[in-house]
Amino acid sequence: MVWMARGDALELLHLGPRLHDAEDLAVLAAAAARGRHENQPDVPPTGGLLPDPRSGWRGPLLAEFSRDGLPVTPRWTGLHIETSPDLGTIAANWSDGDLETHLRISWTMGAGDVIVTHTQFTDTGFRAIGERGVVTTRCASLLLPLPRGFDKVTHFAGRWADDMRAERLPVSRASLGWASRGGKPGFAGGDWLVFDDEETGAQLGFHIAATGDHEVRIERNDDGNASLVAETPIPAPGFGGLHTPEALIGWAPDAATLTRAFHAHARERLASYAHNAPRERRVHFNTWEACAFDFDEARLMRLAEDAAALGAERFALDDGWFKGRSSDRAGLGDWVPDPVRFPNGLGPLIAYVKALGMDFGLWVEPEMVSPDSDLYRAHPDWCLHEPGLPRPTERNQLVLDFTRPEVGDHIHACIAKLLRENDIAYLKWDHNRRLFPQPPLGAHPGRLRMMWDQLRADFPHTMIESCSSGGGRIDMGLLGPIERFWPSDNNDTIERIRIMREWSRLLPLEVLGSHVGPSPNPITGRRLAMDFRAKVAVFGHMGVEADPARMTDKERECLAAHIALYKQWRGVLHAGDLHHLAHPDPNIMGMMVTHGDKALALVAQTAFSPVFDAAPVRLAGLEPEALYRVTLPAPWPPRARHYLANPDAWREGLILSGAALMGHGLALPLTHPETAWLIALEKIA
Ligand code: GLA
Repeated sequence: MVWMARGDALELLHLGPRLHDAEDLAVLAAAAARGRHENQPDVPPTGGLLPDPRSGWRGPLLAEFSRDGLPVTPRWTGLHIETSPDLGTIAANWSDGDLETHLRISWTMGAGDVIVTHTQFTDTGFRAIGERGVVTTRCASLLLPLPRGFDKVTHFAGRWADDMRAERLPVSRASLGWASRGGKPGFAGGDWLVFDDEETGAQLGFHIAATGDHEVRIERNDDGNASLVAETPIPAPGFGGLHTPEALIGWAPDAATLTRAFHAHARERLASYAHNAPRERRVHFNTWEACAFDFDEARLMRLAEDAAALGAERFALDDGWFKGRSSDRAGLGDWVPDPVRFPNGLGPLIAYVKALGMDFGLWVEPEMVSPDSDLYRAHPDWCLHEPGLPRPTERNQLVLDFTRPEVGDHIHACIAKLLRENDIAYLKWDHNRRLFPQPPLGAHPGRLRMMWDQLRADFPHTMIESCSSGGGRIDMGLLGPIERFWPSDNNDTIERIRIMREWSRLLPLEVLGSHVGPSPNPITGRRLAMDFRAKVAVFGHMGVEADPARMTDKERECLAAHIALYKQWRGVLHAGDLHHLAHPDPNIMGMMVTHGDKALALVAQTAFSPVFDAAPVRLAGLEPEALYRVTLPAPWPPRARHYLANPDAWREGLILSGAALMGHGLALPLTHPETAWLIALEKIA
């Protein structure tokens, strides 16, 4: 990325591949300069990163201000650039002496060459008590002139249980816009976008790391040039100063490189967070789709035995464990074990789970309160509400008002007590409704972040997952205190494989929970074979969310074999480079991870194939000159097994070059719907 200072303006000169060290940027600027036409201001309007409406610019603005209730337009002068090479940061500063305001836009380039940018305003005036300075009425995290050529944009729409549905649209002459309202990124905001240049294949990835509401727009100016604007609402009242959430931009020559860039960035965020140490992603057993609210201590102990026998390493007790929570109509807010289900607290269950060789995890939804709870009865004014008006519920619950310090403090104390008194290795932190009737504005995510930071500092052993009815609250800004995301409530393999594929364009497999659910699936009703469910679940942070007692012996055996496979391969899957595999049949989905001398691929067929001989699956990310031993790890998918030519050769391993594997590919029996294969590769020369 190269910016060019022109007076106090900063123009975007280049956003693309790294330039040659010796490139003469003045000459590049001369080559990029354009003439003017008859219907433009005589002095070119100031666009770029800080457009100035005074200059005749008629496109989107970075920010807008008012003073004494009237709009004001600052005169940003004194452009001053600071660089901090050690941090990889460059910042541009301006000020307006009359309005006593300072503006700073900073860009930091880290792992994967992903650029993180944000905007900061500071009120620099000394004010008498009660005197108010300039007010920021809106302010973008990012205003980016969109480089020419990026004429297509992929956004990710969705709804509950149908998260991350990718849709590729032309960046037409009309404006495009996405918004998320309700206090979380949601299932269908514009927080993740991927622009592509059809001519060159280049990709521009964008993300606004805003844990609450956001608005993202592509707008054109008078001359038809497009800009990308991403912003979040201003926390009231907007005096004094403002620091926007981060926006991320990554340029890459192709989709695979963009994926790896975002993965490198995500891994760097996890690694650089003070309270994180590298963790092996233990196999979860989660109780939700195994028994929902239907359990007592004895049933949980039986489930724990069955889970341990399958090879699970963590027993996560989902919803239903706390006081009065026998359905989703009561109990939120009372974070103590239900005395009926757990007369002696959680201690005996945790001890049992640990004796079985697993650690223990727990579900919480701390930002919420049920009207039928002790907390609500004691503090009916602690939830978001409008005095005297009805209190609208969603999933029978209300939202706690985290802008009140005593509310956040109380909830923090409850969760800390829970963690202090019980050995809890993992918290599934859920969030199952939108924030209404009145939005708590920016304060909610801020208070939450403080709570997470403090809990992680005090209990570094406890991993926290962000879940919001599935993938409703996932953003890069959370990575650090949050180490795992729940990408969707939909565990139906046919739906889930698409959801995992889309999330894994942006986030590495180790942060994406991936569970084997029951059959029939409780959301879609589909029945799917265990082999298919288990193979697909290996590509993520694997877990099981089904009652083993309702499986046949064969199914349990098959699941245990895949759990063992996952344990053998997670070192590769969670550290390596992910490649999505292209295939002419849209119902065949493949991905593989390469790491050192090893690679594992997953190829799954979701619908019946129009041809018996499915096209060979071409692998990716291998060294063309190297030789690899290729095997198909057992168990093999039962229905497809008898179509496999040369089973003995596959068992022993075929030796092929990277060039052949990537150029010619492997013919797998992919004729049946709901079939998946795992392919293991080892470099031998
Ligand atoms: C949400 C979560 C589910 C489960 C339920 C429990 O829907 O997304 O995974 O934890 O809550 O009530």
